[in-house]
Amino acid sequence: MSLVDLRALPRHVAIIMDGNGRWAQRQGFLRTLGHREGSESVRRIVRASRRLGLDALTLYAFSEQNWERPQLEVDALMHLLEDFLVSERDELIERGIRLRTIGRRHRLPARVRGVLEGVMQDTEHLDRMTLTLALSYGGQEEIADAAREIARQAAAGALDPERVDVRSFGNVLPSMEVGPVDLLVRTSGELRISNFLLWATAYAELHFTERLWPEFTEADLYDAIAAYQMRDRRFGRIASAATGERPPAAAPVASGVHV
Ligand code: IPE
Ligand code: IPE
Ligand code: MG
Repeated sequence: MSLVDLRALPRHVAIIMDGNGRWAQRQGFLRTLGHREGSESVRRIVRASRRLGLDALTLYAFSEQNWERPQLEVDALMHLLEDFLVSERDELIERGIRLRTIGRRHRLPARVRGVLEGVMQDTEHLDRMTLTLALSYGGQEEIADAAREIARQAAAGALDPERVDVRSFGNVLPSMEVGPVDLLVRTSGELRISNFLLWATAYAELHFTERLWPEFTEADLYDAIAAYQMRDRRFGRIASAATGERPPAAAPVASGVHV
């Protein structure tokens, strides 16, 4: 943690939590055991993020494409999600963490949705950190849904198509409610985005680590942030060292954040 400069933290960190299945299989366990261990990493990293003072943490917990996995694995993931929500509710409240979700929540089992909506309601007034769980989420789906909504409003005469721009489009994307991503982390060595936050990561710094999600610790999070702090974020401009100016606090599209 001493490597991290607390005055220059990324505001919004997003994580593609990958490698649960491989972690389990390497030890001869069922994949679902990897998911159970992965949910412990979620607890650890949420706590560490709050302690550091991040504004927003977005976790890719279940993609729209993950429904294609075997039913038993999907069921296990839904149970773990429910357990997580039930067991973490009080701690989220105690630590001032607001819980929200992005993705097609209506596809989740009614039981899980009920618990989820309860915790969201109980934490909606909290503002120390926002934890967003991406559930049944796809970046392309999110953009297509937003485009459909904009087209619908334009067709109804409620919106002038000339007014659709980066700012107004960003305003209708649920993932942008907490602002653009500063640092995107992916575990397990895979070098891809897998349909995660496509819009909000436009100028995110990317950090890939071989570490599998169940073994990802606070120290790994600090390493990722320390690496982020070594980067020169230019947002299409020239190096800050060349101008003697500080880089902008956020990308130009950040102005599209709505509250
Ligand atoms: C990430 O781990 C968890 C989810 C996608 C739900 P995986 O289950 O993808 O693990 P690997 O990538 O197969 O090892
Ligand atoms: C991305 O991981 C989804 C989550 C972490 C929830 P996947 O394991 O589903 O992605 P691919 O299949 O390796 O691209
Ligand atoms: Mg995977």
